[in-house]
Amino acid sequence: MKIDNIRKYEFGTPYETGAVVCDIPKMVGIPERFKYDMDSQTFIYDLHEKDMVFGLGETLRGINKRGWIYVSNNADDPSHDENKTSLYASQNFLIVDDGSDCFGIFIDNPGSVTFDIGYTDMNVMTIHPEYNDTTFYLINGNTPAEIVKSFRELIGKSYVPPVWAFGYGQSRWGYKTADDIREVAARYKELGIPLDMIYMDIDYMQDFKVFTINPERFPNFPDFVKEMKAEGIRLVPNVDPGVKIEDGYDIYEEGKEKGYYCKKEDGQDLVAAVWPGKVHFPDFLNSDVRKWFGDNYKVFLDAGLEGFWNDMNEPAIFYSEDHLAEVFEHVKELEKKELDIWGFFEFKDVLGSIDNNPEDYRRFYHDLDGRKVRHDKVHNLYSVNMTRSASEAFKRLAPDKKILLFSRASYTGMHRYGGVWTGDNMARWSHLLLNIQMMPALSMNGFLFAGADIGGFGGNTTEDLMMRWVEFGIFTPLFRNHSAIGTRDQELYRFNRKSDFKNLVELRYALIPYITSVFMNAAEKNDMYMKPLWFDYRGDDRCREVEDQLLVGDSIMIAPVHEQNATGRYVYLPEEMKLVRFRSYDDYDTEVLPKGDHYIKAELNEVLVFIRPGRELPLATPARHVEDLDMNNLKVIKF
Ligand code: GLC
Repeated sequence: MKIDNIRKYEFGTPYETGAVVCDIPKMVGIPERFKYDMDSQTFIYDLHEKDMVFGLGETLRGINKRGWIYVSNNADDPSHDENKTSLYASQNFLIVDDGSDCFGIFIDNPGSVTFDIGYTDMNVMTIHPEYNDTTFYLINGNTPAEIVKSFRELIGKSYVPPVWAFGYGQSRWGYKTADDIREVAARYKELGIPLDMIYMDIDYMQDFKVFTINPERFPNFPDFVKEMKAEGIRLVPNVDPGVKIEDGYDIYEEGKEKGYYCKKEDGQDLVAAVWPGKVHFPDFLNSDVRKWFGDNYKVFLDAGLEGFWNDMNEPAIFYSEDHLAEVFEHVKELEKKELDIWGFFEFKDVLGSIDNNPEDYRRFYHDLDGRKVRHDKVHNLYSVNMTRSASEAFKRLAPDKKILLFSRASYTGMHRYGGVWTGDNMARWSHLLLNIQMMPALSMNGFLFAGADIGGFGGNTTEDLMMRWVEFGIFTPLFRNHSAIGTRDQELYRFNRKSDFKNLVELRYALIPYITSVFMNAAEKNDMYMKPLWFDYRGDDRCREVEDQLLVGDSIMIAPVHEQNATGRYVYLPEEMKLVRFRSYDDYDTEVLPKGDHYIKAELNEVLVFIRPGRELPLATPARHVEDLDMNNLKVIKF
């Protein structure tokens, strides 16, 4: 690999995060272009008027990150909106580009890192790691695309899932029994809507104990897995890291006996609560623990399962035993007083401090194969190592099989072990737009197999939001409809316009040859699956501000409708393109449009695809399952 364009600088004593796979010689001093404030240990860069900032993976706000403050500190925050700073992921790679001069940086620090990109001062970007121990990579290149390639060589190749994982998946927190799942499969089959996966949320477990299956609700589980597979459907269970504290539960007892759980300063295992109630957290940063936890997936592999979603791995903490005791103490004190209005707010804040409390992440330690480290200093590595534990186990236990694996939390480097979904979003139009804006940044960071909960996880979706979201989701590698218990049912058969939904999912299946070829190309050549327009049309200043159109591979541009009641939208074409307005894979009209601005009609069931000059879009004849697609017999729309 060409490394003379990458400069590496070290500050403090950096941890071995595993993010980088190449040896780069160390430079001395401060990274070029940056100033460094010794007192606050902050890197400072003066933004030029025309600088745009791309990257940071799964974060809030737009494609151009300029104008906000982002904190890389994996957080379980389902009610994320514009004024939040942290989400489930921490992907510390970004590119600054003014249109002629550009560079990339990767801040390899697994603790909290604050990227103030023109928030405090609109013309200044500062980067401040909470703990100094940082490796700072500065990546030079002539274009953003070149910089992405170099960065991705630095961090290694992206995870590639099995081909069936590009199919449609139905999920919902609330399927409790095998019959619930049978019904979902039957309803899709009845309507002929393609379906490859049904996800099993936490209720499949016995009392939410990891690596168990409830025998009453899922009798003869391996037979059920076979029965579903005969229907062309793979079951994909959710796996949470917390191990329920329960005498007699073999996994708990084994982990306890071997000392595999995260410990507090006094050597006691941390007690936290998540879905199972009180749990211990396996210390995934330790290689013995990774092997032990990973080997436990065997029970699922033996039952015939081929896919998993690793969840709650920030790790989310509903409460810790220690903090809860402090809360009760505090409440007792308040109870004795006559509360004035400030006392009342204090009381509310105390209650609000129970879950995901920053202090809790300072209460426990990891054994990094001999080096004791307080959790918060390496917080963002927890999910990476849980996913790594599974990925390495699959290589040992099922070397000939491709296994679907994706995670909720992530840090740079995890892209080699699995994909991601973007956590608990809401059924909001703004979260559809956020999904569109996150995707290219995820691609930059190597998270090619990615997608959001289509339709929205929390809150009640609507038929039109669901349809518009599916119209974007058919282009995302992970294409999964998922929602929370207690919200409005949102399986596609719940809505009135069933045939429109069928047409859209069929269109996805028709697009799979194109989607998988773009994906494989991006994985093999360290390229992006989805790109901002700017990356390919850098000379065109209008593309600077295009925040809701994306290039998918090199042949097409998409312009999803993401506004309520809209029956069309404005689209900017950076060059002449052929519009294909799809109603289904074989019902579409086409029109060649000149470079420039256009208002383009798109009724609720219509998908806008633009083919670039000299390119073509291949389409397969849809099938009910990916493995039944005839990938060789393709129709081609050319421009
Ligand atoms: C978390 C997950 C969500 C899941 C729920 C129950 O909130 O992000 O996807 O449905 O837990 O397991």
